[in-house]
Amino acid sequence: MFRTLLSPAITRPLSAQKATRAFSTSQVVKQAAAASGSYEHILTETRGKVGLITLNRPKALNALCNDLFVELNEALRGYDADANIGSIVITGSQKAFAAGADIKEMKSNKFIDTYKNDFLGHWAKMTEIKKPIIAAVNGYALGGGCELAMMCDIIYAGEKAVFGQPEIKLGVIPGAGGTQRLVKAVGKSKAMEMVLTGSVNLNATEAQSLGLVSKVVPAEQLVDEAVKTGEVIASMGQPSVQMAKEAINKSFEVPLSAGLRWERIFFQALFGTADQVEGMAAFTEKRKPTFTHQ
Ligand code: CAA
Repeated sequence: MFRTLLSPAITRPLSAQKATRAFSTSQVVKQAAAASGSYEHILTETRGKVGLITLNRPKALNALCNDLFVELNEALRGYDADANIGSIVITGSQKAFAAGADIKEMKSNKFIDTYKNDFLGHWAKMTEIKKPIIAAVNGYALGGGCELAMMCDIIYAGEKAVFGQPEIKLGVIPGAGGTQRLVKAVGKSKAMEMVLTGSVNLNATEAQSLGLVSKVVPAEQLVDEAVKTGEVIASMGQPSVQMAKEAINKSFEVPLSAGLRWERIFFQALFGTADQVEGMAAFTEKRKPTFTHQ
């Protein structure tokens, strides 16, 4: 039913929609669906203070069609704004985290439209989310799926996870960070090998040994493990968690001296928070802190 209510406009990138009109019936439908927690391509639930998003296009191995990413961004923004949520987990199915951008949807794209509408540009919106995001990757994380995982802050993998950038076999290249974030995660030679051949993939153990993934667990325990870490993060003060995330992300974008300056300013700023007072008082009083996120 949901699909029938959507006009063609919603299948274009959000940025393009915004450029042409600020408001549309389909957006109202989408927002109403988001508010009620019902989406077409993702499932959302909360586990304690963790928002859990499950990519849910099983027949297409969670291929990242435009609508899926619009919904994902919407759900992420919702959790980011929810004071009761401290972290977010994104997962897929046991077979596929995501098998990449939707090839069938984009195969007829023409350069001028992809350029003018900034095709895939809206994917980067998720990097504006302030709360930490953990990717729980089972099965295939290929192309855009690998890039989606790399846009998250922590990656946990199930034992049968497969990471790869096969876009070159489609006559294109990675378009959402595969030539940039992957290099920083696994080094230039391995990234070149993966991107240029399209067929050198990393299994979970290799991904962990290279630093792309921080933990490998049995597939059926993966989501619980990610949520457990999410709960630990959510039990901390949100201002310090968010500044820590922002400071670490600065290290990818600015020279060391500027990154260190950002870090010190964030550190100093946290002395203006109630959580710093509480955290240090709790330490000296030998008790657990109760953070109020203020
Ligand atoms: N887009 C659209 N549909 C996809 C898809 C994708 N990325 N990946 C899988 N599917 C669909 C298949 O077409 C198939 O649909 P039908 O049943 O209707 O034919 C269904 O999902 C199941 O897939 P397979 O039958 O191929 O399953 P498999 O187990 O034999 O193979 C796979 C699994 C190795 C992941 C294979 O599906 C595959 O190679 N997928 C494409 C991976 C890829 O090239 N990803 C990069 C996309 S481009 C990109 O992501 C650009 C970017 O940088 C953002």
